[in-house]
Amino acid sequence: MQVYSEKQQIIKAITLLKTKKQTIGLVPTMGALHRGHLALVESALQNNDYAVVSIFVNPTQFDNSSDLKKYPRTLEEDVALLSTLSKERILVYAPTVEDVYEGNAVSEAFDFDGLEFEMEGKFRHGHFDGVGTIVKRLFEIVTPHNAYFGEKDFQQLQIIKKLVEKHHIPVKITGCPIYREASGLAMSSRNTRLKPEYLEAAPFIYKTLTTAKKLFGTKSANKVSEWVENQFSKHDLLELEYFIIADAKTLRPVKRKSNKKVYRAFIAAYADDIRLIDNIALN
Ligand code: PAJ
Repeated sequence: MQVYSEKQQIIKAITLLKTKKQTIGLVPTMGALHRGHLALVESALQNNDYAVVSIFVNPTQFDNSSDLKKYPRTLEEDVALLSTLSKERILVYAPTVEDVYEGNAVSEAFDFDGLEFEMEGKFRHGHFDGVGTIVKRLFEIVTPHNAYFGEKDFQQLQIIKKLVEKHHIPVKITGCPIYREASGLAMSSRNTRLKPEYLEAAPFIYKTLTTAKKLFGTKSANKVSEWVENQFSKHDLLELEYFIIADAKTLRPVKRKSNKKVYRAFIAAYADDIRLIDNIALN
């Protein structure tokens, strides 16, 4: 498998593939790959001649320097995992900060029509400017026909769709379902940092989401939120940051339910110092 650390080299390889009329699907990641990431790569391989997987822990999207420092970096294992899918049809782009940002690791400022001010945007300052900056840059370098993002980060997925629409970037964005452990815990690179008791406790997040979904059938969003907050206040190990039921399109919190709208519940909780997020479709 080809692993490129310099953009000029991968640009050259992609240009050659494009002269041969090959299609490219991009899967942007920050590495420490798990089954959820691999599912995105499988979709890319199914629908394109080649998959480009970028592995880059993007400093500009972290508002917490200790989280950035502790983020797992496992390039060798990542490449080995990807080889199990295909050695010939996957190109890995694993650049340095210097290669991507050329000495200027700062975010562009984006207007995502308000999507950026909800949920994660409230709690992680500058996060989506960082995500927008890196993903736009990856689109410029890789010029993919298709790109794949997980519903695990549902707000990010909506923001990337908005980025592409507003900046007229010629790429089709596909969202992929959330991959979970047998326990229900959404797979995440951060799970590897959970101490055993927290790993055992963390499936409570999804369990609460599934019950919230049932309750939403008969109760108001406010009542469901109160119930969730109460469940977490009784929990010894997990600390709720937010629980929000929102319109899946605008991501704005629901005030009064309408059966014409599509809703989703979103959650962020701390397990020790590790921040976990999850979400579920409600209707
Ligand atoms: P990362 O957290 O590595 O995730 C890379 C992609 O994998 C994202 O699209 C994410 O939604 C998806 N993903 C993660 N866990 C998943 C799961 N359990 N099921 C399905 N998909 C899952 O998201 C980022 O990196 C970064 O913000 C990035 C887009 C790469 C920009 O730096």
